[in-house]
Formats: sequence, C-alpha cells, structure tokens
Amino acid sequence: MGETIRPHGGTLINRIVEGEQRDRLLEHAKDLFPLRINAWTISDLDLIGVGAFSPLTGFMGKQDYHSVVERMRLADGTVWSLPITLGVEDEVAKDLELGQEAALVGEKDGVIYGIIRVESIYQVDQKHEAVKVFKTDDTEHPGVQKLYTKPATYVGGPVQVLNRPKPEKFEEFYFDPAETRKIFSDKGWKTVVGFQTRNPVHRAHEYIQKSAMEIVDALFLNPLVGETKSDDISADVRMRSYLVLLDNYYPKDRVFLGVFPAAMRYAGPREAIFHAIVRKNYGCTHFIVGRDHAGVGDYYGTYEAQEIFSNFTAEELGITPLFFEHSFFCTKCGNMASSKTCPHGKEDHLHLSGTKVRALLREGQCPPPQFTRPEVAEVLIEGMKEPEYQV
Ligand code: ADX
Repeated sequence: MGETIRPHGGTLINRIVEGEQRDRLLEHAKDLFPLRINAWTISDLDLIGVGAFSPLTGFMGKQDYHSVVERMRLADGTVWSLPITLGVEDEVAKDLELGQEAALVGEKDGVIYGIIRVESIYQVDQKHEAVKVFKTDDTEHPGVQKLYTKPATYVGGPVQVLNRPKPEKFEEFYFDPAETRKIFSDKGWKTVVGFQTRNPVHRAHEYIQKSAMEIVDALFLNPLVGETKSDDISADVRMRSYLVLLDNYYPKDRVFLGVFPAAMRYAGPREAIFHAIVRKNYGCTHFIVGRDHAGVGDYYGTYEAQEIFSNFTAEELGITPLFFEHSFFCTKCGNMASSKTCPHGKEDHLHLSGTKVRALLREGQCPPPQFTRPEVAEVLIEGMKEPEYQV
C-alpha cells in the first residue's frame, strides 16, 4: 500500500452524518428555520461534507471571507483562494440569530440537505469581491454574472450533511476523497497527477496528461461535472468521450477516472489554486496547469494561472503544480509540441478555436485527427445532435 498525501490543513474533514444520528437530526431539522439552497450551494455543501474542501467545515464566516478575498488565505493563514459562501436574502437573514441552527433545504425538491449553525451574518460588497476574485466586475464574465445573482448577505458556520445530491448519470464515477485516497493507496500509486477539465479531451490535453504521466505513477482524470456555462459541452456527452478515449489510448492500470461534482467559477488564476488544493484532498500529489487554466474570454493572461502559484511556498500548497506551455500539433515536427520543443512558426501549427470545433461537430464533421481523436469526435458529433446544441 502506498502513502497518501496529507489533506489540506492536515485533516480530511467529514461532515456527513449517517445512521441513527442522521435520523435524529433529520427529525430535528424539520423544526428548524429553513434556508433555501440552489444546486450550486447543494454541491458546495456536499463537497464540504466529504472533505473535498478540507479544511473548511462549513460556509465561510466574515473573517475567513475577508481574509480569502484580500489575501487568498483563511483567517488562520492556510492558503485558500475562493470564497465558499452561503447567500441569504435580507428579509430571511433578518430573522436569523447568531448561534441558531438552520435547515438547508433544496429550493427545487424540498429535501433537507443539511444543517448549519449560524456563527456569522455579514453583508459584502460583491463588486469588490468580483474585482478581487475574478479580476473584473464585467457582468459578461460568467463567474461575475453568477456572483451577482447571489444575495449580498452571507451566512457562515459549520454544517452537517444529512442528504446527498443524487447523480443523474455516471454514478459509478462519483468518488469521495476518502475513497480515491484509498484506491490510489491500494493501487500502490505514490505519485498521482490530477487533471481538471470542463472540455472533451483533445490531443493537446492528451499530450500534457501523457507528458505528466511519464514522471508520475498515475493520472487522475477528474473532469468537473457541476454547473458550467451553457455553451460548454455537457458533462454527459463529455463522460462518453472520456470513456472511449481511455479505452483506446490510455493504459488501464495507470489511469483513474472520477468526476469532480463542483460548479465552474471561471476565476482563472484563483481557481487554479483552488483546483489544485481540492485535488490534493482527493489524494493527488501533482496537478496539471496548462494555458489559461479555468479561464474564459480574454480576462486572464495565458500563463497567469501558473504565475499565481509563486505567491505560495511548496510547503503551504503541499501539492506540486506541473506547468505546461500552450500545446499544439506541428505539421513540420509531425507530432504534438509546444514552444519549448518546436522550432517552427505559427504557420506550421494546427490551431482551431473552441467555437470552430463546436461548429464542425454540429455539422457532423470530425476535426482533424491531429486535433481530436476520431473515436472522441464521433461521440461528440452524436452528442451534438441533442436539442440543446441545435441553436
Ligand atoms: S479548464 O477551464 O478546465 O481549465 P480545459 O478543460 O480546456 O479548461 O483545460 C483543462 C486543462 O488543460 C487546464 O489546465 C488547461 O490549462 C489545459 N489546456 C487546455 N488546452 C491546452 C493547450 N492547448 N495547451 C496547454 N494546456 C492546455
């Protein structure tokens, strides 16, 4: 059995309540003040519960929130780059008192997902939060847009999770951090590189994954399957594309596929830090950061998500980032390359924008095999026939 990496902050948090205690708390929660939560907050709650967000034990209180926004650290100094918060409408918040417990209830299904002990109620300046976290307050930015839909009064405090969201599909690829840690350890993997993605795996992704695989024991392919913006390819179609790719091109004993059920923030550099820390909690020792990681539009510089890592020491991060240059297929080299390995000019490099690739797929055409494996393209073409893509 291999050793697993220490979770962020030292302890893998577990706030999932089970058995008789759960039955008792569910009864108790029925009489508590209800706070309605949406799918995004349910996913945050669950990720706190299973320890993916260790050392967080609940939604951030005022001190942690300000400390994270201003200096990318929790109040105790632990590195943490994104606020994880619970927004509550003012007319609801005014009825809450410090020290009180409240039930966290799904706004659509009425399910009691958990309980929060209210330790902090505070109002925030969301424009300031946007500028600090997303480096813009432009409402065209999908992360900023999402932030502005949230009430500006936040409630913080530790949570207990009583019910968990049920995956609609691909349930067999949902693993909690305690499970992935055990799996990696049982397989004897000492070094595991995590790969975040919200896209199909194209050849550039494959190239950087496999370059990383040359120096570690295994790859944890960990696609984000929570909320993404509407023009990103759905998690369902992507999952089918990962499976066919792994089947055809990856060694089975050195890759593990499991989903990351979090929402995408599109916070670029800050999200790269967050993505790395969370993957450490899942048991990864290394984490891939390529070009414009978690970026959108041109809000962030190509390598800003790599540069941000220099704000922290290796010890305080605990997980080793592996940085990759922009990768492409070079027709002269006849292989995948980056500016670090290829001497040829842009005219020899195959470049296709995401928009162009989606347009091709929608028309039922495969992008060049140097860009996307044909087996993957077929799955994507099939997937793009679904009504949501026919706009
Ligand atoms: S992300 O929002 O999840 O980061 P995406 O799925 O496109 O988007 O990227 C997954 C990872 O691959 C990120 O680390 C990103 O920086 C990297 N990446 C994507 N395309 C390239 C490329 N052509 N060259 C190098 N790295 C890339």
